[in-house]
Amino acid sequence: MKVERLSTGCEALDELLGGGIERNTLTNAYGPPGCGKTTLCLQTAVSCIEEGKKVVFIDTEGGFSKERLDQISGNAEEILDEIILIEPDDFDSQEENVERLESICDKKDIGLIVLDSLVTLYRLELNDGNTREINSRLANQLSTLSNLSRKEEVPILITNQIYSDVENGGVELVSRDIAKYQSKCLLEMKKFEKGKRIMILRKHRSQPEGKESQVVITENGLEKPEKKFSFM
Ligand SMILES: Nc1ncnc2c1ncn2[C@@H]1O[C@H](COP(=O)(O)OP(=O)(O)OP(=O)(O)O)[C@@H](O)[C@H]1O
Ligand SMILES: [Mg+2]
Repeated sequence: MKVERLSTGCEALDELLGGGIERNTLTNAYGPPGCGKTTLCLQTAVSCIEEGKKVVFIDTEGGFSKERLDQISGNAEEILDEIILIEPDDFDSQEENVERLESICDKKDIGLIVLDSLVTLYRLELNDGNTREINSRLANQLSTLSNLSRKEEVPILITNQIYSDVENGGVELVSRDIAKYQSKCLLEMKKFEKGKRIMILRKHRSQPEGKESQVVITENGLEKPEKKFSFM
């Protein structure tokens, strides 16, 4: 049985994902600053709009770049007409907007929901005394998103930041396990010099864990490199 997918607009990434991001679940892309998370979101949004559907883009970082969208799409003005851009500035507002996504999907032909990032405002809200409450609210948002993706068959792309996990010598998602459970696809993005990136599938329903793909960031966005790079 073939699961419906939405192209990321990057051949190498689509190959990695078995054709694109799955339409009825959450895809969680995570990695260090500058690894290409927002680029992936913009590029997938352009791909969705080219298929004739609208995009809800929740930008929690106040950094939505029309210029970058123009580089990636070549026609930012037309693309922007199809994007419902939501810019919450605190965790309460993020929560309210996640709750109203279903009514937006009922009114408009939405082909993709982006939340870039899931955790910026969550991080700002956390303090010593409220971890349990804020974690539970984050888990609720993820559960709402996950249910919505299934019900509306709309792919949801969320991004996550990481920190070094000193104990285990690796990296850990800011939201720890909360986002891992609800996301059926976990995509790690690793950053190397001169635009080189490696994307690794850490969790997927139908592709092997640990599968990798090399990608470069260029003016056009994330692209398949002309030839494989080595790190020697
Ligand atoms: N026109 C361009 N040509 C080549 N590379 C570019 C271009 N514009 C941006 N980049 C590169 O894209 C990278 C930033 O990508 P992006 O904003 O998607 O990262 P991010 O993972 O979202 O970062 P953050 O965690 O800060 O939000 C940088 O390495 C930057 O140099
Ligand atoms: Mg970003």
